[in-house]
Amino acid sequence: MSSSTIPTAVISGTGLWTPEHIITNEELVASYNQWAHRYNDQHARAIAAGEREAKPLGSAEFIEKASGIKQRYAYIKDGILDVDRMRPAIPERPDDALSDQAEIAVNAARRAMDDAGKTAADIDAVIVSCAYTQRSYPAIAIEVQHELGIEGFGFDMLVACSAATFALHRAYEMVAAGTARCVLAINPELTSPQVNYCDRDSHFIFGDVATATIVERTDTCTSSHSYDILGTSAQTQFSSHVRSNFGYVSRANDVDPFGIDKLFHQNGRRVFKEVCPMAIRHMAAHVSHHGFEIADVKRWWLHQANINMNLLISGKLLGREASFEEAPIVLDRYANTASAGSLIAFHLYHQDLEPGDVGVICSFGAGYSIGSLVVRKR
Ligand SMILES: CC(C)(COP(=O)(O)OP(=O)(O)OC[C@H]1O[C@@H](n2cnc3c(N)ncnc32)[C@H](O)[C@@H]1OP(=O)(O)O)[C@@H](O)C(=O)NCCC(=O)NCCS
Repeated sequence: MSSSTIPTAVISGTGLWTPEHIITNEELVASYNQWAHRYNDQHARAIAAGEREAKPLGSAEFIEKASGIKQRYAYIKDGILDVDRMRPAIPERPDDALSDQAEIAVNAARRAMDDAGKTAADIDAVIVSCAYTQRSYPAIAIEVQHELGIEGFGFDMLVACSAATFALHRAYEMVAAGTARCVLAINPELTSPQVNYCDRDSHFIFGDVATATIVERTDTCTSSHSYDILGTSAQTQFSSHVRSNFGYVSRANDVDPFGIDKLFHQNGRRVFKEVCPMAIRHMAAHVSHHGFEIADVKRWWLHQANINMNLLISGKLLGREASFEEAPIVLDRYANTASAGSLIAFHLYHQDLEPGDVGVICSFGAGYSIGSLVVRKR
């Protein structure tokens, strides 16, 4: 489904918050391999008897070649590389302290507000949209709203890899419908707590980050780098090939609420094979719906899960290899940041376009879910 109108809403500001800690592939693999060696030693007899599988060893070269990732940011590095722990050590905060996820959301939000030249009084709604929220209620968005002194309303949304684009869709619709003049959409992607650092095939995929975007009415925009939202398009198709079963019902299921299937897991090959064609068809149709040819699109700010996915998708769309300027890649520095990837790319690489230049922001991933926006520099 697409929507297309005379531009009524613009993206007028973006913000990116990056944690201070970095984990390189080498560090990650050294700790995983140490853990795997220890596991294999501890279970040597069962492995020899064929009762258990040995843990395979990982390699930094494989990770870079298979994913394009060289490093990832971690909100808290402590604990992740500790072979006795293999997960971040994030101290619990009391109910009267700002929660971790609200804190990183506020950090990104303040930057987006500065970028758009907006104060709390200008904003009517806050959306926090990401792959996981750290609690069910009260909404993280309402906590952020309170912290920033924004009146109006806030709510949380979960759409895995497409959380950021789907939130921008909602922001666009609210502004177009007149239910909000200006919306702050934030993606505090605190991914590290849901990574299985003992799984060689997925321990390298994710990084932590927060992005924020201001969507407002065209006539209130004063930003020097704003983009008309020409239209939005979304598509979902159920698949369990990227899945996390973490949830509150585990308590009633009498199962380990932190068991392996409760963490991120995927059939990476199937995801690759099934999502790429969907994303290509989706973007081609969306661009064409607005009367543009693929060649009219100056920049593709694509979801950042895997470099080979991005190269395949941009290559098929363009009919040739895309340059960095045409489809910027941030995976090497940021890894997969769940829904934030396309917005990191947009945040870092949008100021150089000329007025009238058209671009596409697009996410694709778990759900499966695909969300796109066709935008034009003002
Ligand atoms: C996840 C992904 C990067 C894995 O790449 P892949 O090429 O499919 O890798 P495979 O799991 O098939 O493994 C290929 C080989 O490398 C080995 N390998 C896998 N992970 C490894 C690691 N971390 N270190 C070293 N070797 C590894 C495998 O054992 C296999 O060896 P073999 O050929 O001798 O059997 C890839 O499937 C992918 O990009 N999927 C897209 C989905 C995605 O990124 N989703 C993110 C969430 S939306």
